[in-house]
Amino acid sequence: MKAAVLRAQHEPLVIEELEIDAPAPGEVLLRTAASGVCHSDLSIQEGRILFPPPCVLGHEPAGVVEAVGDGVTDVAPGDHVIGCTTAWCGTCRFCTDGRPYLCIHQYEGRAEGLPPRLRDAKGEPVHQFGNLSSFAEKMLVPERAVVKIRDDMPLDRAALIGCGVTTGIGAALRTVNIPAGATVAIVGCGGVGLAALQGARIAGAGKIVAVDAQAWKFDLATKLGATECVDATDGDPVAAVQALTGGGADFVFECIGLGTTVQQSVAMTGRGGTTVLVGVVNMTEMVPLSAADITIQEKKIVGSYMGSNRFRFDMPQYIDFYLDGRLHLDEMISERIRLGDVNEAFDRIRKGETTRQVILFD
Ligand SMILES: NC(=O)c1ccc[n+]([C@@H]2O[C@H](COP(=O)([O-])OP(=O)(O)OC[C@H]3O[C@@H](n4cnc5c(N)ncnc54)[C@H](O)[C@@H]3O)[C@@H](O)[C@H]2O)c1
Ligand SMILES: [Zn+2]
Ligand SMILES: [Zn+2]
Repeated sequence: MKAAVLRAQHEPLVIEELEIDAPAPGEVLLRTAASGVCHSDLSIQEGRILFPPPCVLGHEPAGVVEAVGDGVTDVAPGDHVIGCTTAWCGTCRFCTDGRPYLCIHQYEGRAEGLPPRLRDAKGEPVHQFGNLSSFAEKMLVPERAVVKIRDDMPLDRAALIGCGVTTGIGAALRTVNIPAGATVAIVGCGGVGLAALQGARIAGAGKIVAVDAQAWKFDLATKLGATECVDATDGDPVAAVQALTGGGADFVFECIGLGTTVQQSVAMTGRGGTTVLVGVVNMTEMVPLSAADITIQEKKIVGSYMGSNRFRFDMPQYIDFYLDGRLHLDEMISERIRLGDVNEAFDRIRKGETTRQVILFD
């Protein structure tokens, strides 16, 4: 099968023919139908998120089950599924306390003694990213990394739910509780930010301020629920959000992943408000913040990983939101592309020229 392989950081992905193993017990072989391209894939290529090459990136997929290993009962060949990087074990402390997205065994890979899931033409192992590696025609994944979905859900839009939509909407609906009427700022209107924005709208937020450095995104942000927009390149975005929200927003969602925008997001948060860190800052970077400001104004700063999901429950619900018209996904897709276009897709993300790109497979 064809896959886009990252051979070394900062190098373009290379389309190669890879060997994919047969499903072991508890595993599922999928035909990839569609994969979104998330900023986190680019962050691995550029070394901000640390993951060793050679590897196949891609972690926002929808597909069709081709074969299942022994003991698999949750899905069967022909089922439409979404893949999620937060596989769960079901027995660790986090799985049993209701936070399976924090499962401590989620990235342990195959049982000992089994060959690697992916190998190159020389027989050398190729790392699988996040249990998925969806920049490939097929995926061999744990049963507990997929959820069966309704057959009437289009698979290109289902793919978006695999990471960006679940991350953004879940940050707003699962990580925190936004009371009706609360003021919200969304910092960064890419795939993740636009999903957080829609989560805030669905939760019944009052004012929703969209902040981005690309003013062309504001038409779409407004269609998806923003009540005001702030161009971060035109004056001080912190002062602008404070002015629009009476001194700072009740909830600020940082959906970019830069130290400077984390600082701005905390500063945009009002007294007693909550900053939700969704963007992933370079793993080796420290971000200075005023501890006294956080104490005296009683601000809360919370991290949000993969939309605090219980994806077997959440993803079908987000699909229902889409199919009944409350969650807008069609508008979020800016380009439908082929696997061979993945490097151009990375370039468009670098330049901020896109909202969400989806790779389609045959
Ligand atoms: N927490 C999680 O579980 C999780 C999951 C998926 C993605 N992420 C992270 O979320 C972040 C966003 O991902 P995405 O795919 O939506 O990215 P994206 O590139 O599509 O969106 C980022 C947006 O930020 C805007 N931007 C960039 N610099 C800016 C600045 N200085 N001021 C204002 N706006 C600016 C860009 O114009 C763009 O609209 C990334 O850091 C990604 O790694 C986190
Ligand atoms: Zn992602
Ligand atoms: Zn677990």
